[in-house]
Amino acid sequence: MPEIQKLDEQVAIVTGAAQGIGRGIALVLAGAGARVVIGDIQDASGTVQEIRAAGGQAISILADISKPHDDKALVNLALTEYERLDILVNNAAIDAPDGNAWSLSDAEWEQTIAVNLSGVFYCSKAARWVSGTSLHLTGGTQRGSSVL
Ligand SMILES: NC(=O)c1ccc[n+]([C@@H]2O[C@H](COP(=O)([O-])OP(=O)(O)OC[C@H]3O[C@@H](n4cnc5c(N)ncnc54)[C@H](O)[C@@H]3O)[C@@H](O)[C@H]2O)c1
Repeated sequence: MPEIQKLDEQVAIVTGAAQGIGRGIALVLAGAGARVVIGDIQDASGTVQEIRAAGGQAISILADISKPHDDKALVNLALTEYERLDILVNNAAIDAPDGNAWSLSDAEWEQTIAVNLSGVFYCSKAARWVSGTSLHLTGGTQRGSSVL
């Protein structure tokens, strides 16, 4: 298994980390030393408690990524609590209803686009707008912040 890069002192936002893949990402980032800030429409305190129980630092807020105001609040929480932002993991998403795309109602289509497309845009924009940092669209070896 490749060695996990140490992320001591870094601050990572992970959206949709109350459960599933986002929860796993949050735990791995915290295990590497990052302080984790979670935004989810569900209570993510279970993930926060698991990170803290392992000696890490984490905090969560109820946030709907499709709402620009919520995305700004999420980024502001990272800055007020930890005074920096290094990593944004745009994980939160919803599955479109099963079936042929043409059978989706207008409301189902709009909700899917609002969360899965606009949510990523608004959250990334909030991170750039509030922090004023230079965010890269890669998690590679470049110095600076990362949007994933
Ligand atoms: N599970 C898979 O097989 C799979 C495969 C490919 C891609 N993905 C992608 O990985 C990501 C996570 O998948 P998962 O299986 O863990 O999903 P999941 O449904 O288990 O978890 C999604 C999380 O996002 C949160 N969420 C949903 N809408 C939100 C919103 N508007 N604002 C904030 N949080 C919101 C949910 O509350 C939940 O905690 C998604 O982007 C998904 O499309 C998953």
